[in-house]
Formats: sequence, structure tokens, C-alpha cells
Amino acid sequence: MSRPYDKARDFDNQCRIWKEVGWFIEGDRGKKAMSCYHEASETLVEDVHGEMEVGASRCPAIFWHQGTPLSAVVVVGVYAGRVGRQQGHALKLTAESVAQAANEGACVASLGIFDQGYYDRVGFGNGSYIRRMTIDPKSLQVEPLQRAPHRLGPDDYKEMHAARLQRRPAHGRVDVLPPGITGIECLEAEGGFGLGFRDADGVLTHHVWLASYGKDEFGPYGVEWMVWNTRSQFMELMAALRSLGDQVRGIRISDPPEVQVQQLLSRPFRVSDRSRGSEFESRNSSWAYQQHRICDLPRCVEAFSLPGTPVQFNLRLDDPIEAVLPSDAPWTGCGGDWVITLGEKSWAEPGHDKSLPIMETGVGTFTRLWLGVTAVSGLAITDEIEAPAQLIDRLDALVRLPRPLTDWDY
Ligand SMILES: CC(C)(COP(=O)(O)OP(=O)(O)OC[C@H]1O[C@@H](n2cnc3c(N)ncnc32)[C@H](O)[C@@H]1OP(=O)(O)O)[C@@H](O)C(=O)NCCC(=O)NCCS
Repeated sequence: MSRPYDKARDFDNQCRIWKEVGWFIEGDRGKKAMSCYHEASETLVEDVHGEMEVGASRCPAIFWHQGTPLSAVVVVGVYAGRVGRQQGHALKLTAESVAQAANEGACVASLGIFDQGYYDRVGFGNGSYIRRMTIDPKSLQVEPLQRAPHRLGPDDYKEMHAARLQRRPAHGRVDVLPPGITGIECLEAEGGFGLGFRDADGVLTHHVWLASYGKDEFGPYGVEWMVWNTRSQFMELMAALRSLGDQVRGIRISDPPEVQVQQLLSRPFRVSDRSRGSEFESRNSSWAYQQHRICDLPRCVEAFSLPGTPVQFNLRLDDPIEAVLPSDAPWTGCGGDWVITLGEKSWAEPGHDKSLPIMETGVGTFTRLWLGVTAVSGLAITDEIEAPAQLIDRLDALVRLPRPLTDWDY
């Protein structure tokens, strides 16, 4: 039986589990990070031999679909100690965390994965590829800095968090709401530091947070997040990174939503070839390591606004979370028969209309369709979708969304 985390009873066991899974940060930094974690998240616990052995923690969030903010939950941690493994506790706690949040109004759930396949068992589907590149900061083709950035440190986490929630809008953007989550992210990597710019009133308008992983002299550093709203703010942040470049040989950076950092680099292939095999290798990686799932189908479908010829179809939706939750739970997923209308205005109603074509799929795949992770015809190749080819063609023509990116690493 799961129960809520109780600090007095569970703190020492939680530290033990985190040591066992390799997440524990020794010393004062670790104590601060742990207290930020519990300030920020709600944790469900499973006991083995009378003490906490497995936990799942979640935070309230906002998930932006096109321009619509949807109430959401991010599962920020799932962890099992060495005697709590392979008994189904972790998956059950994940399902219960999603169910409790859905019951409290979360329309979408999201998480970072340790590997693909596990969270699919409770209805999650892959988000977009996240492209990351190690660049030589000196190769950034941007105007030199015109003013000195301000130094930011872990104690500034509340100010940085408030700025993060005001960053540039993007389809698929996720805002994890509790400020403590930025607090823990500041403390996670050793040697983290921020560079920021303020307006005339001293308000932090744009900033970047970097981790140096203890490699303070030459790097490589990693951009953990960037907050900006306008082109000139983005360029000023790039100039701030370039300003480190006489010393720092490599900075790992993700492409921000709709932006291709490679475009700003001088001779990227030459730099990449010359650095091959070194610690500063200028290379690209691209992985989908975040997954999402719809929890409230009508609210999510309502967020769709698609110019073009509307499409109506029956959706027979399978939701595997149902099998992991108790049958009398107040929320057991969104499986069942739905009639879906997609267009400028979109909606989902329970039921079946015999005159319409049928799509049969799982909630993870339908979430991928809803986000526009890839074309519906692409989903029909890699995912499990049963639908007439004509319906897939019509959906391909209608569902054309920007590449969804959470722009928040978790
Ligand atoms: C992730 C973690 C919590 C899972 O714990 P666990 O006790 O193995 O999980 P469960 O008992 O719930 O599930 C085990 C089942 O999932 C399956 N599974 C594990 N990884 C899988 C994958 N990538 N794809 C499909 N199935 C997978 C196992 O084979 C097993 O299947 P079975 O029940 O049919 O035998 C545990 O490995 C852990 O603490 N890891 C370190 C911390 C971590 O990385 N957390 C995840 C952050 S996203």
C-alpha cells in the first residue's frame, strides 16, 4: 500500500535510496538540494520490510499546447532502493502519482526517462528529439558583448525561476511551477553559475545557467537552461557564451525551440573534424528522452486549433494505466470510445458514430499525434495505429504543428 512521504519517518531512508541509485549529493550542497526537492514536490512511498524503499515524486506544472496553458504534472523522480526492485512498486507509484494529479485536474503528465519502454506501460509516449551540440564558444558568429553580464548563483534561484516562467512561448513548453525545482537544478551540478542581464529597473530579463562539472579551467561547460524573449536578448546570451571562449574550449547547448544554433557557427564541420576524439569534441546528439501522456482527453483535444478542412473520426483508445491502478480508483485513465472532431475548433465526446471512420491506438501514440511530434503517417509506421489510409492522409494535411519542445530539462 502506498502512502505519502513523511519527512520525520522517511528522510534517512530516502537519503539511503538516493545513495543506492547514485543521486545523492554529499555535503551541504546535497542537504540544500534535498530540502529544495521536498519543498518542491509531493512524494508517494512504498515500504518494504517496514521502511521506505521506493518513491515517486511529482510537481505541478503548466503544459503549453499551441497557445493554450494546460494544467499538468511532471513526475520528477522515480527511484527504488536495492531491495525494492522488480516488484512492480515503482511503476505502480508512477501510475498513482499520475492518477492523483489527474484527479486534481492535471490534463497532461510528463517525465524524463531512464530508457524507452518502461513508462510506455502507463501510457506515456515519446516527445520530440532534443538536439544538443558541443560548440567551441569562440566559433559563435555574434556581435561582441556591449555590457558586462551580472553574476548569478544558487541563492538567486527564486529570481531565476520567476524569469523562467516568463520565457519565450513555444508549442509544447513546460513550466514546472515550484521555485524549489530551479533551486535543486542549480545545486545538482557542481560549479553551476549564471550570467544574466537586467533592465533599468534591475529586473532580470534574460539569463543563462551553466554547469562546469568541476572543469572550471577549459570546460566543457553545459548550458542547463536559457531564458530570453527577443532576438537581441538571445544574441546577447550567445555573446556572453562567446566571451568565455578564449579559455573555455567547449560548451554543450541544446537548440532552443525553433532555433538552429549551428546557423551561428563558423566552419562547424571543420571544428568538429579537428576536435574528433577529444573531450571537447564538437558533436551533435539527438534523443527523445522526455515522454508525455494525455490525462484529460476532452480538455487536451479542445486545445487543438487547426486551420484547414475539419476531420471527424471515432477513436478507440487503449490506456494501459488502467491495468496498473486499482479498479475502484477515482481516475483510471482515458481509454474507451470517443468521437473526435479536429479543426479550427476541436472537441472530444465519449461515444461512437457509425458513419465515421475508426482509429484504434494507445494513449501514448495519440499524445504524440496531439503534440505533433511527427506526422500521423510517420506514427502509422513506427507506432501502433489502426486507421484507414484516407483518414491518415487527411490528418497529415491538417495536423501541422511546430516541433514541440518542453524547453525544460527533466
Ligand atoms: C527505474 C526504477 C525505479 C525501476 O524500478 P523497478 O523496481 O525495476 O521497476 P518495476 O518493478 O516497477 O518494473 C520492473 C519491470 O519493468 C521492466 N522494464 C524495465 N525497464 C524497461 C524498459 N526500458 N522497457 C520495458 N520494460 C522495462 C522490467 O523488465 C520489469 O518487467 P516485469 O515486471 O515484466 O518483470 C529503478 O531501476 C531505479 O530506481 N533506477 C535508478 C533511478 C532511475 O533511473 N529512476 C528513473 C528516472 S526516470
